[in-house]
Amino acid sequence: MLTKTGRRWLRVIHIVFVAGLLGGLASILIVNGLTNLNTREIFVANYSIYTLFNLVVTLAFFGVVTTGVVYSVFTHWGLTKHWWVIGKWLGTVSLFILVWIWLGPAINGMVALSDIARDSNRVPDVYYDLKGSLALVIWLSLLIMCFLIAITIFRPWGQRTQKYEMKRSMVLVLVSIAIVLGGGLGILGYLDLESYRNMKISSPDLTRISDGMYTGTLTHTGFEYAVAVRVKSHRITGVGMVKNRESKFAQWAEGVLPRIVDHQSPNVDGITGATTTSKVLMKAVETTLEGAIK
Ligand code: HEM
Repeated sequence: MLTKTGRRWLRVIHIVFVAGLLGGLASILIVNGLTNLNTREIFVANYSIYTLFNLVVTLAFFGVVTTGVVYSVFTHWGLTKHWWVIGKWLGTVSLFILVWIWLGPAINGMVALSDIARDSNRVPDVYYDLKGSLALVIWLSLLIMCFLIAITIFRPWGQRTQKYEMKRSMVLVLVSIAIVLGGGLGILGYLDLESYRNMKISSPDLTRISDGMYTGTLTHTGFEYAVAVRVKSHRITGVGMVKNRESKFAQWAEGVLPRIVDHQSPNVDGITGATTTSKVLMKAVETTLEGAIK
């Protein structure tokens, strides 16, 4: 069990992470509320939201849950002894669903769509749908957080009369398994994404490619992406998808295709929020052109 000083430090760290989560979500709400922006400013605003989410909100939430686990395992508050602590766990799970199942992908979508809009100078309607519901989800999250702070201060509903409290050793084992599994899968997924994000893309020598329509494929995580590239007078005059994943990320990543034609090279900036799939499509075009070289 934690000493009195230990509990005080835990409370400091817990409150700092809670403040980070509150501040991160409130900042996203404010930046999301900005209006009358041109397409470049819209992208910058969304890139800030994307960074706030991935850095501040993600780390703060991880910190809140970790200190919550320490509270439940190493202090007298326990896991299921008090109704308000149970309430906090349920509240934290609903926050997780709102923030990770909904808010994260929506923020990814908005930064990707605003990145593509920089080229086309036109922001699609789906972007404004996401923008509107993003504000709603953040208000709901902030409301849940205020409720959790209130039940921490007032500690309503008293102590649970219970016949059984999970042994601390059992809680520790379960928590450790969750951390090892979650952490392990997270690291594997991250390393895979990083391997693609850092993939080098070269610029094939177009002077050695004769006129024609060339098709090529690239397999990533078991899916075979297929592209078609049209070359005329040693210039890329068109790039299109023959086979792409149904996922939103894959659709957003197609934003790199017009950039490849503009830059006459597959080595272009990927679409923010869909970086990995952007790289896969760029590599598929590079491979196709390399294969066409006589
Ligand atoms: C992950 C689940 C969580 C658990 C198990 C948990 C548990 C606790 C416990 C036991 C305390 C100390 C109470 C005391 O000693 O006075 C505490 C303090 C606090 N918690 Fe949490 N918490 C969790 C998540 C959260 C979340 C998500 C928020 C914010 C929305 C939050 C906000 C606070 C605040 C503001 C305090 C300080 C209250 C004070 O200093 O009086 N907690 N929490």
